[in-house]
Amino acid sequence: MLLIIASCATGRKQVQHNFPAEMSASVREQYLHDWQKGKVLYQENCAGCHNKRKGRREHIPVFPADKLAGYGIRLDNADHERAIPETRVTTDELVSIITFLTYKVHTIKDTVRQH
Ligand code: HEC
Repeated sequence: MLLIIASCATGRKQVQHNFPAEMSASVREQYLHDWQKGKVLYQENCAGCHNKRKGRREHIPVFPADKLAGYGIRLDNADHERAIPETRVTTDELVSIITFLTYKVHTIKDTVRQH
């Protein structure tokens, strides 16, 4: 029974990341590991403020690439200074979150900037 559920879930699963084709297999593996970690960490540390709810679905906004460039994110605004200091989200974790946000597939609904 478990097997059936698992195979159904995989059947429906869409590819959610978007790594450049020229990325080597070993780099890709490292990025994928980071990306998956980042996905969980984003949900834990960022989604509460940033995701938009539409009906029963939640959408992750598309952040401008230049805003995802570095650790400056921590100091971007007062909410960040309060909510995501190094003691809560380590630099390594922030890097994983940035990897997730940079390489996730932006669905059409996601690309509508919601402000
Ligand atoms: C306590 C609420 C809060 C949390 C938690 C939070 N943010 Fe933010 N964030 C904001 C606010 C408020 C802004 C400024 C308004 C905006 O652009 O949405 C912002 C802006 C940003 C921006 C710039 C967006 C732009 O368009 O200029 C990025 C990138 C960002 N946040 C990423 C993150 C990441 C990554 C995390 C988790 C590690 C996070 N935020 C956690 C409240 C939060």
